Amino acid sequence: MIGARRVLEIGTLGGYSTIWLARALPRDGKVVTLEADAGHAKVARSNIERAGLGDRVELRVGPALESLATLRSTQPFDLVFFDADKENNPAYLEYALNLSRPGTIIIGDNVVRDGAVTDPGSTDPRVQGVRRFFDLIADEPRLTATALQTVGCKGWDGFVIAMVSDGSSDGQATAFGR
Ligand SMILES: C[S@@+](CC[C@H](N)C(=O)[O-])C[C@H]1O[C@@H](n2cnc3c(N)ncnc32)[C@H](O)[C@@H]1O
Repeated sequence: MIGARRVLEIGTLGGYSTIWLARALPRDGKVVTLEADAGHAKVARSNIERAGLGDRVELRVGPALESLATLRSTQPFDLVFFDADKENNPAYLEYALNLSRPGTIIIGDNVVRDGAVTDPGSTDPRVQGVRRFFDLIADEPRLTATALQTVGCKGWDGFVIAMVSDGSSDGQATAFGR
């Protein structure tokens, strides 16, 4: 979609999505993936090596907010994928914007949650995090976004996809290649 070379993923688990992301990159591309759980990270490393993608993936172990704080001065990412603790999506969005450039794509998974995100009575912190995430996206002039619902064997859910611009209407046209 955007010829991404640098991808940031938050939430590695066993490296399934990491491997798909890394396979889509050119040889000199890089996925930086953040995982809190050392056990999951160990499994992911092994899977990524077996897939022959060890040179294209950098896995950082620890709470994502701590890892993100150390990524600030590196080059911008072309694509950012949030798939960890949804409570922290609002904070992840701020980091993602700081680590982006006009044209960067930000994707957040699990934003429908069997419809719970539209249930005004829900006190689930993940639901609250996703709602706040949507509100921040809607209020952010640098983001143009939509959410897509998905229905499959794992149930009813969806993801949000946003494109970063410099916030001006000209900037949006440039980010979208118009
Ligand atoms: C839904 S799984 C990720 C699935 C993976 N992206 C995939 O599609 O194959 C969420 C992962 O986020 C990790 N996680 C949860 N909270 C985290 C945090 N604060 N920092 C980093 N990773 C976290 C969990 O340990 C878990 O491995």
